[in-house]
Amino acid sequence: MAAATHALHFANALRADSSIPLPSGNRMPLLGLGTYDLRHHTPESVTQALAAGYQMIDTSGDYHTQRGIGDALRHCGLPRESIFVVTKVEATDDAFEATRVNLAELRLDYADLVLIHRPPVGGVGEVLWQELRRAKREGLTRDIGVSNYSIEQIEELVYRTGELPAVNQIEWSPFGHSPRMMDFCFDNHIVIQAWSPLTRAQRLNDDKLTSLAARYGKTPAQLLIRWNLQLGVVPLPKANHAQHRQENLEVFDFEIRQMDMVKMRTLNEHYSSMGALPYV
Ligand SMILES: NC(=O)c1ccc[n+]([C@@H]2O[C@H](COP(=O)([O-])OP(=O)(O)OC[C@H]3O[C@@H](n4cnc5c(N)ncnc54)[C@H](OP(=O)(O)O)[C@@H]3O)[C@@H](O)[C@H]2O)c1
Repeated sequence: MAAATHALHFANALRADSSIPLPSGNRMPLLGLGTYDLRHHTPESVTQALAAGYQMIDTSGDYHTQRGIGDALRHCGLPRESIFVVTKVEATDDAFEATRVNLAELRLDYADLVLIHRPPVGGVGEVLWQELRRAKREGLTRDIGVSNYSIEQIEELVYRTGELPAVNQIEWSPFGHSPRMMDFCFDNHIVIQAWSPLTRAQRLNDDKLTSLAARYGKTPAQLLIRWNLQLGVVPLPKANHAQHRQENLEVFDFEIRQMDMVKMRTLNEHYSSMGALPYV
């Protein structure tokens, strides 16, 4: 219920240049570019995306896109503080050192957000989290968060360390999401970032989605992105094609009616490109 009220409030305030406040006081853009599997054209794709208006780039050491993103950031002519850069460390990393390696690849002095990519097997990553807290204290990143964590794992992490993550980045779309996670994150001021917000294109031809999108004169991908925006969830669509990247930005000139937002929620089949949503 809390999250639904929040979503309504949020929908009224959406503009391409709006941003979401984080508990640290920093602000995060509403929409970012995913870069998993963008490696063959990374510098060109990211340069074009920044010119088109993307203000946030999501990457990770294991995407092999950081060097290309670094090239694009160096040559785009935009001030560093106008772009929000998200990267990740792995469960087996020394998180402080891995953050330094990521920054070296990106050729940046700081990241805006560093996430624990996945909780370690059999634990919640307490040591990783302490190292990320150190990275934040020492100015290597402005905010820290987690990815692919369940509610119980976040609660355990906070119980052990006393610090909430600013973000939980999880697979999230109308076809696969969790109202319980939504309420938990809203109540705890944790921003959900949606990975695979387009279901890796696996549900773009769904009959209910395509007919709803047609009624708004929008594409299924635009409807999926807008659904997230109106929930207050930050989508990170990836697109190799410039035309897709442009289309995915054109989501601020319409609004999904509340009854259709609810209808989209009923598409939930806990779809996951990995077979199962680990956080549900
Ligand atoms: N934290 C994690 O564990 C985690 C896991 C997975 C992903 N992620 C992040 O989330 C990002 C997004 O997820 P994803 O890359 O898995 O999948 P996605 O964004 O859901 O889907 C990407 C696919 O959708 C297609 N597409 C994009 N825009 C389209 C449009 N307007 N119309 C039709 N098709 C369109 C793309 O085609 P083209 O490429 O041909 O344009 C591509 O095949 C990743 O890139 C990564 O940054 C994080």
